[in-house]
Amino acid sequence: MPELFSEILKKEEYSQSDLVVLLNAQGKDRTALFTHAAGIKKQFVGNKVYFRGLVELSNICSKNCLYCGIRAGNPKPDRYMVTEDEVLDAARFALENGYGSMVLQSGERCDDSFVATVTNLLQKIKELSNGKLGITLSMGEQTEKTYRDWFDNGAHRYLIRIETSDRELYYKIHPNNKKHDFDVRINALKMLRQIGYNVGSGVMIGLPFQTIEHLAGDLLFLKNLDVDMVGMGPFIEHEETPLYQYKDLLWLKKERFDMSLKMVAILRIMMKDINIAATTAMQAIDKQGREKALKVGANIIMPNLTPVKYREDYLLYEDKPCLDEDASECRNCLEARIHIAGDEIGFGEWGDSKHFVKRTSSSKVD
Ligand code: 5AD
Ligand code: SF4
Ligand code: FES
Repeated sequence: MPELFSEILKKEEYSQSDLVVLLNAQGKDRTALFTHAAGIKKQFVGNKVYFRGLVELSNICSKNCLYCGIRAGNPKPDRYMVTEDEVLDAARFALENGYGSMVLQSGERCDDSFVATVTNLLQKIKELSNGKLGITLSMGEQTEKTYRDWFDNGAHRYLIRIETSDRELYYKIHPNNKKHDFDVRINALKMLRQIGYNVGSGVMIGLPFQTIEHLAGDLLFLKNLDVDMVGMGPFIEHEETPLYQYKDLLWLKKERFDMSLKMVAILRIMMKDINIAATTAMQAIDKQGREKALKVGANIIMPNLTPVKYREDYLLYEDKPCLDEDASECRNCLEARIHIAGDEIGFGEWGDSKHFVKRTSSSKVD
């Protein structure tokens, strides 16, 4: 007799085939999955949501990921770099509004001038906030030296999505060349961990050629890597990218959204004390996308602090929300949404993942 869904759901560890069953859940089973995940969230991370004020520092990128609207090969976006003053204004806003942390995200560049600009920004943000603001970086693959320099200058979390953990699929969504090397990306995650960062990763959900089995593999990958933080969300096609040609192969947007909710819920059950973001891409598909993600396990939100004039040029995908809303409008909007989801905001705290805190404090004892 096949195992009952409820028996699979209660297991301590999920196998690849268990995960496929969970990801396929419909109707009552789907509701049971979401209820279980909500219970685990409540028990292990509570109902506090942490804000990370996001500055999309620059859309200049040396890479050509086949899914991304700001890829080097797209001539359409005006390329920009937010000025130091603008970043510091955003830091001041974050501080004054009780956001515990900032995220600086950018297209991938490894030239000395860019690396030095980021180092300088880290120093200035730390100075301005008396070390109070936590800083997460999301700047892609860099050398070990750069990762160390940025860590030494105050960055303490780093996000680098693996995008898909399946090597073959990885090369279907990236150019097959040295600049887009799967092993280099995996190695970057390992270096970051060794240096001492809180390490975050994640995947896109509903990519062309992606199967439920791939997504089950992604969940196992994140678990095996023992990540501290995860940001994942639906793939959303962008007309000015090579993957757009496969738009007719894609799952419906609402199916991609629903699968993303299930991924969040299952990951929360598998990795009880990590930080999971309710991502902007989820809101791009469903107006209540982020609240729905919070309800099934997410506990992090990244309000956008990028000056409005640049936002049109940081369109990684279609229908990206908040193009015209400034930092205050996004703050008000998100506060309301978090309360609707029944959560509260952890003002003025870094909100590092409990997973990281536990892992690093136990390794000190060893
Ligand atoms: N759809 C969804 N997410 C995307 N990203 C880039 N392009 C898209 C897209 N078309 C995500 C990637 C990247 C992050 C910065 O944005 O996962 O890591
Ligand atoms: Fe550049 Fe990141 Fe877009 Fe890839 S996903 S093209 S690295 S900005
Ligand atoms: Fe920006 Fe809602 S989060 S307007």
